[in-house]
Amino acid sequence: MATFLIDLSPSDMQRRLGDALAVYVDAMRYPRGTEDQRASMWLEHTQRGGWKAVAAIEVPDQDGSEGGSTPEPQLGSAPLLGIAYGYCGAPDQWWQQQVVAGLHRVGADSTRIAELMTSYFELTELHIHPRAQGRGLGEALARRLLADRGESRVLLSTPEINGEGNRAWRLYRRLGFGDIIRGYHFAGDPRAFAILGRSLPL
Ligand SMILES: CC(C)(COP(=O)(O)OP(=O)(O)OC[C@H]1O[C@@H](n2cnc3c(N)ncnc32)[C@H](O)[C@@H]1OP(=O)(O)O)[C@@H](O)C(=O)NCCC(=O)NCCS
Repeated sequence: MATFLIDLSPSDMQRRLGDALAVYVDAMRYPRGTEDQRASMWLEHTQRGGWKAVAAIEVPDQDGSEGGSTPEPQLGSAPLLGIAYGYCGAPDQWWQQQVVAGLHRVGADSTRIAELMTSYFELTELHIHPRAQGRGLGEALARRLLADRGESRVLLSTPEINGEGNRAWRLYRRLGFGDIIRGYHFAGDPRAFAILGRSLPL
């Protein structure tokens, strides 16, 4: 089997939504059923300005390809190993409103808030299926997602983990993400999150 990275259109995402959500639930080790709560939100996100999604798929090795060029892999029904997407942040989005509230809480002034919020890509989801983690696919998906963006920076939120000791934290630090807010509680979620960001291009 060979692994390919591909871009997804909104209709690709709609068609493979169940598989993409299954990767997300397995990667995050969320309880079964979480998919159903997230499905409509993931679909709504495909309509947002600047939405882009990328996926890692597994494709059987080509036989008899000697002398020919490898065809562009198609999403089709290929097993999905990873999924990542994001979109351009905007003031009417709940996430931006929560982050702005958090910035006020940590004493950021209006200049700093405007600098952070005026032009950013929100890296909303990045997940690799557990059986494919630890071989560089997450970094490759993040780099593909963030290539050629028009925004000035990328922002994301990730759960706080003791000692920043998981693959997500190691990846974000390796990619140069710095702290924007630490230990933040989004409305309605008891977990603490970090808001991280860096300038673009990567
Ligand atoms: C976080 C996550 C997306 C990272 O993706 P990943 O493919 O597992 O990891 P990376 O792309 O960072 O790969 C780095 C690892 O692959 C290894 N690796 C192997 N070949 C590699 C290559 N060619 N290039 C880079 N790294 C390679 C590295 O040594 C490193 O291993 P280590 O973490 O044990 O030190 C993924 O682990 C995941 O989905 N985790 C659960 C869900 C989650 O936390 N999502 C983010 C929530 S905000």
